[in-house]
Amino acid sequence: MLDLPPSFVDLDAAAALLRSGRLCAFPTETVYGLGADATDAEAVLAIYTTKGRPRFNPLIVHCADLEMARQIAEFSPLAERLAAAWPGPLTLVLPLRHPTSITDIVTAGLDTIGIRIPDHDLARALIATVGRPLAAPSANPSGRLSPTTAEQVDMNFGARVPVLDGGACRDGVESSIVAIDGETAIQLRPGAMALAEIESLAGRKVGRAQTGAKVAAPGMMASHYAPGAQVRLGATTTNPGEVLLGFGAVAGELNLSPAGDLNEAARNLFSMLHALDALKPHGIAVAPIPETGLGEAINDRLRRAAAPR
Ligand code: TXA
Ligand code: MG
Repeated sequence: MLDLPPSFVDLDAAAALLRSGRLCAFPTETVYGLGADATDAEAVLAIYTTKGRPRFNPLIVHCADLEMARQIAEFSPLAERLAAAWPGPLTLVLPLRHPTSITDIVTAGLDTIGIRIPDHDLARALIATVGRPLAAPSANPSGRLSPTTAEQVDMNFGARVPVLDGGACRDGVESSIVAIDGETAIQLRPGAMALAEIESLAGRKVGRAQTGAKVAAPGMMASHYAPGAQVRLGATTTNPGEVLLGFGAVAGELNLSPAGDLNEAARNLFSMLHALDALKPHGIAVAPIPETGLGEAINDRLRRAAAPR
């Protein structure tokens, strides 16, 4: 412990902080989460104030195993089939089970809860050691790029938020979110699990949420995931003052995946946007990304990054 900078903590220290109602960031297979004990209203409130997050935007609860998840949410047969993806980058929005120990600050007063089991040993060990589910949004100020390394979390929050270092995240883009109502499933947010994979587990078509639809992820604001620089999409060349983020044959300053591999591109997306933004360019131009597989999640994040602020 002695040679670690003060913001970096080990598993036991992280668990002790969380158990005493403090915040601690932790790694998952998708991005780093800003964690708090999901049963502690004060602790969860601190997530919103630290991130500057609107209070109407509910949080995802992370469980160590299915037993913990079943205490919190009601699982329909369809939900059970999709939970076969766990541990993994799929968040299920399910009816909250009553009575509940989860503070209503987590759900922003909704009668549903977003829940997942992360596919990351250190994350599950942390939740199991704390012995309570952890509420955790991505560990970035609201509207900014999500962190995929402990160093990026430290750059975001410094000494205000201790972080458990698990190295670089495997997937690099947030979980897919699917809302379940009985035998109906709707994808609220594209993410690290491709829609085709979700549909094969569900054994049926899974619709995409329409803007303005009854079920929606309240956090899906148009402008989000924004670097400091302006972002321009579908670019193959640069305008004056821009740097180019490439993909495949479009080379660029950095390239999301020279081989055109969408999984590799998802993993690199936030890190490379961070790296280009650090050059303080006037703008970041991004090469076209196909809309297939994880391309859906990548383009979703890029459109939000490029949206008017
Ligand atoms: O990969 C991830 O999902 C990461 C890691 C840390 O697990 N977490 C993450 O959390 O991306 P966050 O807070 O950035 O995004 C949570 C999304 C928001 O869009 C929120 O509106 C939606 O989940 N959400 C949470 N609970 C919901 C509910 N009950 N109904 C509808 N949407 C919900
Ligand atoms: Mg986020």
